Amino acid sequence: MRKIITIITIFVVVLLAACAPAEPAEVEEEPMVAEEEVVEESEPAEPEEEVDEPEESEEEMPAVDLSICGTAEDVTITYVGDPVDTSKEAELATIARFNEYCPNITVNRIDGDASTTDLLASYLTVFEAESSDLDVIRVDVVNPGVLGEHLLDLFEYTPQEQLDSYIPSLLVNNTYQGRLVALPIRLGFGMLYYRTDLLEKYGFDSPPETWEELATMAQTIQDGERDEGNADFWGYVWQGDAYEGLTCNAMEWQVSNGGGAIVSPEGVVEVNNEATIAAFERAASWIGTISPPAQTSFKEGDSNEVWLAGNAAFMRYWPGAYATSKQSEVIGDVFTTAPLPAGASGQGASTMGGWEIGVSKYSAHPEAAAAFAVFMTGAENAKFYAIDTTFPPVILDLYNDPDIQAAVPYASPDIVQIVTPRPSTVTADKYSEVSTLYFTAVHSILTGETDAATALELLELDLQELLQ
Ligand code: GLC
Repeated sequence: MRKIITIITIFVVVLLAACAPAEPAEVEEEPMVAEEEVVEESEPAEPEEEVDEPEESEEEMPAVDLSICGTAEDVTITYVGDPVDTSKEAELATIARFNEYCPNITVNRIDGDASTTDLLASYLTVFEAESSDLDVIRVDVVNPGVLGEHLLDLFEYTPQEQLDSYIPSLLVNNTYQGRLVALPIRLGFGMLYYRTDLLEKYGFDSPPETWEELATMAQTIQDGERDEGNADFWGYVWQGDAYEGLTCNAMEWQVSNGGGAIVSPEGVVEVNNEATIAAFERAASWIGTISPPAQTSFKEGDSNEVWLAGNAAFMRYWPGAYATSKQSEVIGDVFTTAPLPAGASGQGASTMGGWEIGVSKYSAHPEAAAAFAVFMTGAENAKFYAIDTTFPPVILDLYNDPDIQAAVPYASPDIVQIVTPRPSTVTADKYSEVSTLYFTAVHSILTGETDAATALELLELDLQELLQ
């Protein structure tokens, strides 16, 4: 267990480094799956869903391919979609593509909560009631351990070739007690977005390499833009509300300052040290200076709104803002991305994010639900999905695809080299409690409610007690 974080880190660095511009990485991992036929036929149809019967019975319906669709019945399944950035459009296009093969499966896409913390809570409410309301769900990369007991084993439904196509560390991440509880759909990592026009206007040749440089540049640009009449302009926006997104931001400040990574792969709590205190004090000093006072209630959407309006010089975000920024008439041609700045460690840090697709154990239509999950995450759909969302793909071969290289230009070793996973493997089903204690403590420092030294001393005790 404890080796897994190391494996993930080494793997993401080495594999993606190997596969970006030149040759694909060799993946030697043994399949973790029984080699068996993928999809079982379901029981003969009970006429349970008459609502979905087509009216025009004369019209020829396309044949249903059972090896893809899992069932010949007409069924409706519910998929919990992503309302953030361009994901909704990519998901609707995915459903349309799926329906070309499986017109008998209606996918009812509903918006999940935009906050992954609230989304997790909503899943747990449904699952603890063993309700069949949700069939296919999005699982944050940190949550296979927390949700695993409620999800089907997708080893039983996924073709071996598809399993072999993924970045192997993600399959390790998504395996809970020997069961593959989710299939990977996208890779995420924290990155710095910046305005190329404004850097040039204020005489900066390159993006900031350290947090101090970022603060100086942000302040200079903000002062200049405000002097020119834009009272709404801010230097730096990020995610500071008390939720999982703050855990991601704060871990980057901490790791880049050399303060450890919350809980080490060996299970040691690493939060109460001078480097972390200094990192969080520095972040607190941004509030109301280069970042808006409301920064401590910002989630992804709030930061991206300021950025897309042209009212920020820098933004910390995930790859998804690349798509929305490119589409923006205001900033579409005047931005690019860079690695996040370094702290006292001399290196930057980028939190590994990403999402997986799981199927509820309580689904009334497991074959259809698994068929949709497998299709969504398979190579045919994954390429479109990566281009539409600008998230780096989870299928290794796609990194050699020129269309992907053009649409997702930062999917290169330059950025992924510094990806750090959150401690979700070592803390397993306690991860969400670990993260909640962490972001609550950091939030109290950012709002000035508690000083950093006191907050981190208490956090250390709380985490040690939780994990003992
Ligand atoms: C992104 C990441 C996810 C992370 C979340 C935090 O969606 O992909 O891993 O937990 O942001 O807000």
